[in-house]
Amino acid sequence: MLERIEEIEQRALKDLAQAVDQETLKAWKVKFLGRSAELGEILDGLKDLSKDERPTVGRRVNEAKSKLEAAHQKRSEELRKDELERSLQGERIDVTLPGRMIPRGRLHPATQTLRRIYAIWADMGFQIYRSREVEWDEYNFELLNMPAHHPARDMWDTFYTTTPGMLLRTHTSPGQIHVMRERVPEPIRVILPGMCYRYEQVTARAEFQFTQVEGLAVGKNITFTDLKGTLAAFARRMFDKDVGIRFRAQHFPFTEPSAEMDIECFICGGKGCTVCKYTGWLEILGCGMVHPRVLQNGGYDSTQFSGFAFGMGPERIAMLRHQIDDIRQFWQNDLRFLEQF
Ligand code: DAH
Repeated sequence: MLERIEEIEQRALKDLAQAVDQETLKAWKVKFLGRSAELGEILDGLKDLSKDERPTVGRRVNEAKSKLEAAHQKRSEELRKDELERSLQGERIDVTLPGRMIPRGRLHPATQTLRRIYAIWADMGFQIYRSREVEWDEYNFELLNMPAHHPARDMWDTFYTTTPGMLLRTHTSPGQIHVMRERVPEPIRVILPGMCYRYEQVTARAEFQFTQVEGLAVGKNITFTDLKGTLAAFARRMFDKDVGIRFRAQHFPFTEPSAEMDIECFICGGKGCTVCKYTGWLEILGCGMVHPRVLQNGGYDSTQFSGFAFGMGPERIAMLRHQIDDIRQFWQNDLRFLEQF
């Protein structure tokens, strides 16, 4: 009998060494330590043994059982360790790998140019003044010295609303009247940025929606020299400290005299190229001395006050700066375009 116990023990230990996971380990336990295991059977049969044999066999069975239990415990721990080790190996993190790139957002090229324009004018003491995009004909035209049927209105093809006299502003100039009426008789130094709309065929050079930055200075003894000096200072900061500039006579109903400012083409340095259409100059903005009638419409006494005004298109400036050849790019939201800035 003792030999049989010995044999069971050896067999069990051999089997145990072959258990590779918790699953086989469990099966092993049922087989060798379970209720109907061989050792259990021997215990059950003790009563049939002789009085002398009983204690020795009983002790031997219990000894074998606790030995197997201890072995099982040990094997189980080994296996658990192995499994942990394996999973750590498999999920090891390589801390030297470069991180995943997080796409970074950026400002729209028109916004970038706008902000640069704001910063330059802010440094020169100009406040930002915002005014409405939906305007009255009165402000967009009449108060700017363009009564009904004035031929100059043809310069601005207009989106009208179904409300008579209400339209989408075609330029930021009506804001001039709003600021003047609000500030009179204080001196004014403001820029008026914002969206404008024109009923135009959309092409590479023209959009029906675009931004403008208007500027207005009103005070006593403001002269055309102030206009030229201020705009030249702006151009030098916006483009280049040595940029050449020139003023060309032009006509706008709300300024007198009126002009357009050109800067020397920074692509070809004035020699002539496709960007400047071989003129050597790039038109940047319209400007002029505020027309006395416009000053009066704003509430200012035109015998006491004078002022200058200007208007520029940031998209146009961005196009020149970045050599963008199609204005429609600004509204297409094509990332291949936007990500270049
Ligand atoms: N409002 C003009 C336009 O949209 C631009 C302009 C020209 C604005 C001369 C001005 C100015 O303030 O003085 O074409």
